[in-house]
Amino acid sequence: MIQTTELVATGITKAFPGVRALDAVDVSFKAGEVTALMGENGAGKSTLLKILNGDYIADAGTITLGGRRAAFSSPSDARRAGLRVIAQEPEVAPYVTVAENMYLGRYPSHLGFVSQKEMKRDAAKDLERLGFAELLDPAAIGVTLSPAQRQLLEIVRALIDDPQVICFDEPTSSLSDHEIDVLFGCIGRLRDQGRAIAYVSHRLREVFQIADSVTVLRDGKLVGNRRVEGLSEEDIIQMMVGRDLSNMHQRTPHEPGPVRLRLINVTTDDVRDISLEVRAREIVALAGLVGAGRTELALAIAGDRPIRSGTLEVDGQVLKSKTPEQAIERGVGLAPEERKAMALVMIRTVKDNIVLAMLKRISRLGFVSDAKEKVLAAEQIERLNIRTPTMRQRVENLSGGNQQKVVLGRWLASNSRVLVLDEPTRGVDVGAKAEIYRIIDQLAASGVAVLVISSELPEVLGLADRIVVMENGRTTGELSRAEATEEKVLALAMAGQLQTTARRSRETR
Ligand SMILES: Nc1ncnc2c1ncn2[C@@H]1O[C@H](COP(=O)(O)OP(=O)(O)OP(=O)(O)O)[C@@H](O)[C@H]1O
Ligand SMILES: [Mg+2]
Repeated sequence: MIQTTELVATGITKAFPGVRALDAVDVSFKAGEVTALMGENGAGKSTLLKILNGDYIADAGTITLGGRRAAFSSPSDARRAGLRVIAQEPEVAPYVTVAENMYLGRYPSHLGFVSQKEMKRDAAKDLERLGFAELLDPAAIGVTLSPAQRQLLEIVRALIDDPQVICFDEPTSSLSDHEIDVLFGCIGRLRDQGRAIAYVSHRLREVFQIADSVTVLRDGKLVGNRRVEGLSEEDIIQMMVGRDLSNMHQRTPHEPGPVRLRLINVTTDDVRDISLEVRAREIVALAGLVGAGRTELALAIAGDRPIRSGTLEVDGQVLKSKTPEQAIERGVGLAPEERKAMALVMIRTVKDNIVLAMLKRISRLGFVSDAKEKVLAAEQIERLNIRTPTMRQRVENLSGGNQQKVVLGRWLASNSRVLVLDEPTRGVDVGAKAEIYRIIDQLAASGVAVLVISSELPEVLGLADRIVVMENGRTTGELSRAEATEEKVLALAMAGQLQTTARRSRETR
């Protein structure tokens, strides 16, 4: 008998109250191939993977794995049959080690006892075998992991028992370029071993790097499946959104106004001696590799990290108490990086989440007019094209990208004078990206000082008037829009590393 692990799903249909998430979708993931699964936010990608995984039961359709019926009723059934889905939002047990997280609930115990030492040794071996040893320490504790490490841990955990079909749901959204390279090395090996791989991403570049074919969904329907060879980015965008997005990064020229945000030698536990300015009507990007300290700096500006020394000024006035309350009061808004943990109250509604930051502003004597809330929420839903049946939908039921739009909507509605956006387009589809760029541009034009953190260089170059580059908790340089290139930004982002390599090569000579 021929061993084939192709996964074939036909006629998959799934409705949620008010939404038809999938409508008679046919897809197949072939052995020895990477199939990119693409589509706008809310197109149905994650729902499809959750159905394959047995998280959800389809309303209709059939699934076969290696020719056999494979309608799983739970993820553990799917796992036993050799299928793993790596979820969009990693779930890491916070107070146990990486090793324990890797084998959660499936490490052999001797008479009820698990040997920590053996487990750590096995974890180290598995990390080595899968190629992630340099990025994850088996002894590290869950809560101390960065978003990137948490994502990698989720991936490693899924790969340990050699699944035949592996589905990645936006695995790279919180990874740096180097980590992506490591992951792609791993995916390449899995493909060469004949595994069938499905890969969801909004990054077109990655699709060309890693995928053999592309399957596109739109509004819960299959648009088509094509070989990547011979396709252009425009072809895929056209399939996804049905329109041309050639001027993604349009900026309206505007003269910067007075300085709104000024940092003078700001030092926190993680960043040192940061001095920078953002003027009204200006967009400044903070570039750097993951771990350079950008998020820490953003949190400090928002009053969420203690500032050990240095000054923080908003509109020429020094911020004294440096608490989140004071920052908000002074008009500083932060759309944080980890939307799930920090920004969204998942069980509350879309409307509640959007109006959260501005409750103060619209409340009179502690009263918030429900009508006013509704108007404001409706405005943002419309503006950002947030896909939700009603504003009363719980945020946890939205697709990942639409959750991100809710976070942004909150800050856009808040009338902040200084807006710090940490990876604002992470997980957002190309159409919505273009829309978010346009909104950020409008906000700047209206007088807001915008500081954007982004790991996507095309985004940094397209959006910013100035680019400040960080490495290891310090700024390493600044580039104007006119002089900036990807190479120059990268050179500054790795300035220290390059110096050490230069020194090393001198020493070895
Ligand atoms: N548990 C649920 N309850 C209600 N609606 C849901 C639920 N899960 C998904 N949906 C809806 O189904 C649709 C498809 O969502 P899905 O998460 O599959 O999109 P996606 O293609 O993965 O988008 P993204 O790129 O934003 O992650 C969306 O309209 C979403 O709001
Ligand atoms: Mg999704």
